[in-house]
Amino acid sequence: MSQNESVSHIDDVACDASYFDQPVSRRGTDSDKWDEEAQPGELPMTIADMDFRTSPAIIHTLENKVKTGVFGYEVPGDDYYNAVAGWMSRHHGFEPPRSWMHFVTGVVPAISSLVRHISNMGDNVLLLTPVYNIFFNSILNNGRHALASPLVYDRAHRSYAIDWADLEQKMADPLTTLMIVCNPHNPIGFVLEPEDLARIVRLAANHHVTIISDEIHGDLVLRGEDYTPLLSLPDPLRHNVIELVSPSKTFNVAALHAATAIIADEGLRQKAVRGFNQDEIAEPNLAAIPGTIAAYTRSDHWYSALKLYLKANVEHVEHFLATSIPELVPVQLAATYLLWIDCADLLDRYPLTSEEWKAIGGQASRFTVNQHDALSHPLGRTDALCAFIRQKTGLIVTPGSTYGAGGDFIRMALACPRRQVDDALHRLKTAVDQWKETHTGK
Ligand SMILES: Cc1ncc(COP(=O)(O)O)c(C=O)c1O
Repeated sequence: MSQNESVSHIDDVACDASYFDQPVSRRGTDSDKWDEEAQPGELPMTIADMDFRTSPAIIHTLENKVKTGVFGYEVPGDDYYNAVAGWMSRHHGFEPPRSWMHFVTGVVPAISSLVRHISNMGDNVLLLTPVYNIFFNSILNNGRHALASPLVYDRAHRSYAIDWADLEQKMADPLTTLMIVCNPHNPIGFVLEPEDLARIVRLAANHHVTIISDEIHGDLVLRGEDYTPLLSLPDPLRHNVIELVSPSKTFNVAALHAATAIIADEGLRQKAVRGFNQDEIAEPNLAAIPGTIAAYTRSDHWYSALKLYLKANVEHVEHFLATSIPELVPVQLAATYLLWIDCADLLDRYPLTSEEWKAIGGQASRFTVNQHDALSHPLGRTDALCAFIRQKTGLIVTPGSTYGAGGDFIRMALACPRRQVDDALHRLKTAVDQWKETHTGK
């Protein structure tokens, strides 16, 4: 029995909603969200981590690890990779072979490294926008262009679709060498269909584009069919694909700094792994290996209860909005705990004041993302709305413009105890009522 197995042999204990109802105080814990972003009295529903304790098996495993008192260099071994493969197989019907997997210290570090080593300075990296904002940093900080292919929003159905003609045209640009797909998609919360994924991979192969599939939200499909791990597509579609998975979102262990790159093509894998080593992102800290193994092998009960709790939170908010703030309409959420809410009805009926327009730079209400460099985040109408909500009630939600498109939307993270969700909804209602009173139109 390996040390990881012996120090962490804690059963996967039964778990229910009461576990997630427990409030956790995160102030004074160096929390990015609670200590850095929010002032006392404010309520941040922003950064994608959860205000829940992680699974009992992970907590006990790490306690035992600390008790060993020995924290020398570590290397992920078979127990780590078997845990990743077992989890993927059990929950997503896809078991990656051992040789395809490589440990990395996080999804974003891996993306930045891949941008540096798979593409060249000045290349285009393609994104379906709106999308997780840190992708822009990984691209632009490394001297590449972020090229947006904006998703097409259907306001009648509150849903998004890929603009295939636009995507193909941008793939065909000889400067486009990489595309990052958020699978499932943050902030929209949609799960790409296998046929759509296959079409993206085929287009990319035809145009010599490598795909990075960020699957960090893959375990958090709350409704409908499970997501498709990109490498589960059949063989001819695997050669230009890099898949990134992590327990980080699923188990609220972002500070574990553990993720796995999965790459089927040997040449691509060698190039990627060489880059990971050059960038020194392939060595785990003391918690990464035992924490990941405990997550992936002894936390299934916690995970099932978490998904039920998150789904109930989402439904609770959807019901509240429909009945109490009908001008705010959520987009259909299939995955993630990040609700993407369309505020256009409110902002059309109760428009911004001229001062607010000035403050956001006088942008048109539905701006177009610069097609050639998605860095230029023009502010949107919800930048004014979010500032107003925060000032009036202390509730912090993220304006859609953060994600490179979506200036009429807000994103609200819902992974917290129900009481906290209710507090947020109460503040939101108060703020919207005040907005309506003070923004009466012409
Ligand atoms: C799509 C996506 N990728 C990556 C990350 C962060 O990954 P990591 O903490 O492993 O660097 C996040 C965090 O919100 C995310 O939403």
